[in-house]
Amino acid sequence: MSDGQPIYSIEDLVIDLYATTVSVRAVDGVSFNVRPGETVAVVGESGSGKTVMTLGPLGLLPEGVTVDMKGSARADGSELLSIGSRQLSDLRGRYFGVIFQDPMSALNPMLKIGPQLARQARRFAGLSHEAARKEAVSLLARSGIPDPEDRYNRYPHEMSGGMLQRAMIALALAARPRVLIADEPTTALDATVQAQILELIRQIQREDGIAVVLITHDIGVVASVADRVIVLYAGQ
Ligand SMILES: Nc1ncnc2c1ncn2[C@@H]1O[C@H](COP(=O)(O)OP(=O)(O)O)[C@@H](O)[C@H]1O
Ligand SMILES: [Mg+2]
Repeated sequence: MSDGQPIYSIEDLVIDLYATTVSVRAVDGVSFNVRPGETVAVVGESGSGKTVMTLGPLGLLPEGVTVDMKGSARADGSELLSIGSRQLSDLRGRYFGVIFQDPMSALNPMLKIGPQLARQARRFAGLSHEAARKEAVSLLARSGIPDPEDRYNRYPHEMSGGMLQRAMIALALAARPRVLIADEPTTALDATVQAQILELIRQIQREDGIAVVLITHDIGVVASVADRVIVLYAGQ
């Protein structure tokens, strides 16, 4: 499963956050590699730096905090910490798929689900208008959403939490990424839906051979899906 060259490499990553009244070294010298087809789990207690470590290099940390990053994060021949914001946005779009803890941080509440997926598939997977529409419906189906033709025309607020999580997985896959990053994708869901979502991620990985970075504080999840585990404690 984990042969080949790394497709994402983090080396000596240090991330300092500066807000108005506080500064914190959220990530303190972390190194790891991700190879095609493998699942790397990142575990650690709340506040240990999991989210900052994975979203920081992608430029996805919330606004309102100043981020200072040192070290290296390499993907697709680029150094993420030094490329321009447009290049980073492009790389993020076509190389990384991100599943957030809260689906509404990825989905646009003003747009129907299907067209959001189709737009992503046109933009980053280079599909035509009609092909992108078909792809969106098929992604919804693949993500375990019943009646995908109907759901295509639904707004996010018309869907349940579990269905939104699936829609976000579909959105993350629409650009056909090499690396799927999932930040506690099941925390807000009940146990049955949690298990279904994890199985879905695993199935997609088997079929597409993409790498998965799975952030979780659930050691049971780690035991069932991870090839390797990174344990974070106070950013280390
Ligand atoms: N927007 C922010 N502003 C200030 N501090 C933050 C912000 N986001 C995270 N932090 C701090 O960075 C550290 C790591 O947080 P985080 O990566 O969110 O932890 P985890 O995902 O492991 O729960 C914590 O000390 C947290 O308080
Ligand atoms: Mg987090």
